[in-house]
Amino acid sequence: MNGRDLVRSVKAVSVVGPAQGLRAVRASWRRRRVDAVGLRRRGPERARVPGAVVGVDPEPGGGLVRFARSRLRITVTVGGAVFWGWDGAEPGPSYALADVCPEVDPRAVLEPDKDGGWRVVAERVTIAVSRHGAVEVCTPGGVMLRRDLPPRWWEPEGGGEARWVQRSEVAADARFFGLGGRAAGPRLRDGSYRLWNTDPGGSFAPGDDPLSITMPVQMVVADAGTHLMFHDNSWDGVVSLREGTEGAGSGHDRGGSCEVRMEGGPLRCWVVVGTPARVLHAWAQLTGGATVPPSWALGHQHARWGFGSEKEVRRVVTGYRERSLPLEAVHLDIDHYAARQVFTVDRERFPSLPRLATELRGEGVRLVSVIDPAIKAVHGNPAYDGGRAIDAFVRDTTGKAVRGVVWPGESVFPDFTAEHVRKWWGGLYEERLAQGFSGFWLDMNEPASFTAFGDTTLPRSARHALDGRGGDHREAHNVYGLCMARACYEGMRELQPRERPFVFSRSGWVGMQRYGGTWSGDVASGWPGLRASLSLVVGLGLCGVPYSGPDVGGFDGHPSPELYLRWFQLGAYLPLFRTHSALRAGRREPWEFGDEVLGHARGALEERRRLVPYFMTLAHLARRTGAPYVRPLWWAAPEDRGLRDCEDAFLLGDCLLVAPVLDPGVERRTVRLPEGRWYDTVTGEVFEGPGSVTVACPLPRIAVLARAGAVLPVRGEQGGVELEVWAPAPGRTGGGLVVRDAGDGWEEPAIERYQSCWSEGRVVVESSGGGEPSCPVRVRGL
Ligand code: GLC
Repeated sequence: MNGRDLVRSVKAVSVVGPAQGLRAVRASWRRRRVDAVGLRRRGPERARVPGAVVGVDPEPGGGLVRFARSRLRITVTVGGAVFWGWDGAEPGPSYALADVCPEVDPRAVLEPDKDGGWRVVAERVTIAVSRHGAVEVCTPGGVMLRRDLPPRWWEPEGGGEARWVQRSEVAADARFFGLGGRAAGPRLRDGSYRLWNTDPGGSFAPGDDPLSITMPVQMVVADAGTHLMFHDNSWDGVVSLREGTEGAGSGHDRGGSCEVRMEGGPLRCWVVVGTPARVLHAWAQLTGGATVPPSWALGHQHARWGFGSEKEVRRVVTGYRERSLPLEAVHLDIDHYAARQVFTVDRERFPSLPRLATELRGEGVRLVSVIDPAIKAVHGNPAYDGGRAIDAFVRDTTGKAVRGVVWPGESVFPDFTAEHVRKWWGGLYEERLAQGFSGFWLDMNEPASFTAFGDTTLPRSARHALDGRGGDHREAHNVYGLCMARACYEGMRELQPRERPFVFSRSGWVGMQRYGGTWSGDVASGWPGLRASLSLVVGLGLCGVPYSGPDVGGFDGHPSPELYLRWFQLGAYLPLFRTHSALRAGRREPWEFGDEVLGHARGALEERRRLVPYFMTLAHLARRTGAPYVRPLWWAAPEDRGLRDCEDAFLLGDCLLVAPVLDPGVERRTVRLPEGRWYDTVTGEVFEGPGSVTVACPLPRIAVLARAGAVLPVRGEQGGVELEVWAPAPGRTGGGLVVRDAGDGWEEPAIERYQSCWSEGRVVVESSGGGEPSCPVRVRGL
């Protein structure tokens, strides 16, 4: 046990109490023993590189390049994404991809290149392979975006999984984003980022890494173009990034670099080149469109660990109602379970959940339930008995069910990588529906298991089905949360086929957007935590997961009224807008921070309610186009280096720019504007981009700017949809998209397009088919 482990074990005892703490210590030893028996020791290894090219086999969409000691398959697909895999790696099977085999683009061909190399030329990208196996990604104009050096493998002499490393070079001006949810982003600076979904234990701040969602997905933005690189491999690994530096015209530029080091699994990747919008579109085609939440999940939601009783829930909901504060959902945490056992209810403190749910539903408030994967290992616990009956639980190499310690104590873990387990688990939600729940908050699914030392998860040797292939936790770990989300989503589709499931999951992996969204996890209550909240949402959006948000106010402790308010104001513009906190943390209801904060929080809540039709439009567009609701400022102008470095503001769709307050005592701040005219949505003040401007952000509000010409749907005073139009700059036009959704269900709404322009001294809005919009129009910025 080292020093860090000692701190962890003390923390474990203080977070979970002495009895749990002791169990966690025992669990750590047990975990170590299981791995000592189940994991083969790595003996001597042999290093290998591909060697020289010996031949090629052209194939539709590319072909196979054969080297002395490896082979490389390159395939271009119709969506524009390019696959390449070494050593015989194929695109499938893959937990990331929406379809097993994306269609091949037959127009791309393998042809000889200079110096004995080969290349595949496609519409949007050229992939050049050198004689010794370096792979270059170039734009159609021939500018290099990335150069992967020949990979290197280390193979255990006694057989077993090979480790590998892939080093790459990028331009001196390139910036890295992505890698899942990272607290110290969204721009990922020099450093090492681990690929191993991890419950940080306690609360986390920007220095903590990794967190619950890691993904081998890099979005790289440079003057020459944007590309996304995905290493489709769920094993443990480390990505080391180094940004380049520029010699200010002296010719002494140093390029950026990246190294991906994996403990096993295939060396295969996907690369997509284009504008950010095109890249994410192709990415959504490859990994699946994001779920569209029901409209209530786009409004304000309130949670707390420790509501304690039905009475308390009623008191809180009444508090919202009496103060006329909009509220769409209340989330019940583990304290509503009987003895913290998932799929049960503590009947003493929650004697009639179905009645409570119906009552609240009458007031327009839904109930959402937390769901933990760990199942208390006691007979008589229906989930335990049911799971044993179908052989649902993860086992060690000797065949014994792996035990860990989570909230209910000694627990076992369903193996969600087995189809029959997902089906069984999906069916358990019938009990949740009978209790009246409308949505699900999946937690602790890294999976977390409290330990005093070593990894806070299952033994690496634990066996998993991996959908028929069989394997161990080293491969299954990072997809555990993804598969749990899938089980919930598919279960809900069966149980309530007419409703859109509302699922958000703490852990996940590439493709998790097919089943739902996520949230920050236990972000520390403090100004750095506020900043981390935004970093997570932006980074995850760039990895294809558009719906997320933080614990507003921070998970632990007592935020100052100012911090709480600033967090609340930011949260109002993020897809998941939820207040939440820990058992012993201070309250998070808006009236707990004094009348002034209450007044301003009300303003934020009302504005959020007004913007729900816009959020709904963004949700549909995210599903169809891959564009996240929350986008970095460089989204439409990645060549603007100033925007690339701006991390404290974001675009909400095409129409709005949000500049939150992330530091105490700030009432004015600078913001770097993308090109065009922008209006302060409150004062109407006009700003011209590109360039830096100073905007007002007094305590009552953060700065929200609207793009000149923008047309966005908002909720009118009578409740119907209204078009808000921001006057185009003189002589210019504008427009916007609107998707009107019934609020739930599967009907495919049409995308309405509107154009705005000046005509005879008036701002006019027309629908793209010609003619007047069918709803009221309000022109602003005049
Ligand atoms: C985890 C979750 C947190 C929840 C707590 C109790 O820490 O991240 O949101 O309140 O577990 O269930």
